[in-house]
Amino acid sequence: MLFEPNVDLAPFNTLALPGRAARYLAISTANQLADGELATARRFILGGGSNLVLSGDFDGLVLHMAIPGKRLVGEDAEAWYIEAGAGENWHDFVQWTLAQGWPGLENLSLIPGTVGAAPIQNIGAYGLEVGELLHTVSAWDFEKRAFFAFDRSICRFAYRDSLFKQEGWHLNGRIAITAVVFRLPKVWQPRLRYAELAQELAARQIATPSAREVANAIIAIRQRKLPDPAVTPNAGSFFHNPVVDAARAAELATSHPTLPRYPQPDGRVKLAAGWLIEQAGWKGKALGPVGMYEKQALVLVNRGGANGADVKRTMAAVQHDVRAKFGVNLTPEPIFL
Ligand code: FAD
Ligand code: EPU
Repeated sequence: MLFEPNVDLAPFNTLALPGRAARYLAISTANQLADGELATARRFILGGGSNLVLSGDFDGLVLHMAIPGKRLVGEDAEAWYIEAGAGENWHDFVQWTLAQGWPGLENLSLIPGTVGAAPIQNIGAYGLEVGELLHTVSAWDFEKRAFFAFDRSICRFAYRDSLFKQEGWHLNGRIAITAVVFRLPKVWQPRLRYAELAQELAARQIATPSAREVANAIIAIRQRKLPDPAVTPNAGSFFHNPVVDAARAAELATSHPTLPRYPQPDGRVKLAAGWLIEQAGWKGKALGPVGMYEKQALVLVNRGGANGADVKRTMAAVQHDVRAKFGVNLTPEPIFL
């Protein structure tokens, strides 16, 4: 195997943090992963770097997933089955499915990153999580030295979570996802339960939207409030929305009646981290070169020249202030390398 030595990772993470990989290899076919030399190396699997905090240099091997390809692999009376390579750009893939006449993924338009990373944290937005429309995940297991197909029923998809995020599977780079198959039902209905999406469509005077119109509305909402990483480096939401038990949520609502609360199917309640951060005084505020975005307080931004330590300093300060004011712990969403 020919590895590239000492590769700059700054262009490969959307927070634009500095760091170099001791060794680097772009993976453009699944079979490259089966090479024995990769099995023993200290590895990190990299997609689009849009959910990543780089602490500094990485003294191991970065495998940059670039496996291409997207095609219809099956069809029955109820659904289309569509496969995409792990290296495909997520947003481009979603737009391509819509252009083919296979609706379903439109609510996940404009999420950065790759198809291969989508199952890792079960990406979600505007009332849809990818696990709902996923059929199988194909992956190489470096430990068992074999390819596996994971049926969605064993992927343990939950809010920003999956089997692949759990210790032993993912964080040590055990699994490299090579392709994902989606099952898109032929009977389609727009998912409009997210209030902001319904409002956007109403403002456009669209009562019965097509999948394309839903995608356009979502793209517009996202462009209005989320910073473009090419202009203002960021990793999307920096913290999970905390989920607390019903009694705690009721207690918080008494002292803070405007706190947004979203009841979950299991009886617990999801709180809006962006609201908590804004109320703690962090919206538009910075510590050194790292701050919380002025239009969406949940998005941590690199104002220029930041490194991993700067990010961790601001993260800790925000967590401290939210805990002090509300007694709520915020857990970071991105993966730290
Ligand atoms: P990376 O950041 O490269 O990697 C993320 C993790 O996945 C790492 O641990 C990595 O090792 C692992 N990984 C990546 N590819 C593979 C693979 N092929 N096999 C095994 N492991 C792999 N997320 C949402 O859920 N909803 C949103 O609405 C959303 N909005 C965002 C908006 C912005 C502006 C930004 C910058 C980010 C947003 N995100 C959102 C977060 C991010 O886009 C997703 O988490 C995305 O899936 C990350 O993809 P990636 O290819 O960049 O992964
Ligand atoms: N809010 C504030 N102040 C802020 C930001 C938000 O008060 O600065 C309030 C809003 O007014 C609203 C609530 O918080 O009442 C929720 O805000 P928003 O609709 O913007 O969504 P979010 O909870 O901040 C989540 C996801 C996003 C996803 C959107 C749309 C998480 C951690 N984040 O954000 O995902 O795109 O909903 O579904 O679940 C990501 O994971 O990177 C990401 C961007």
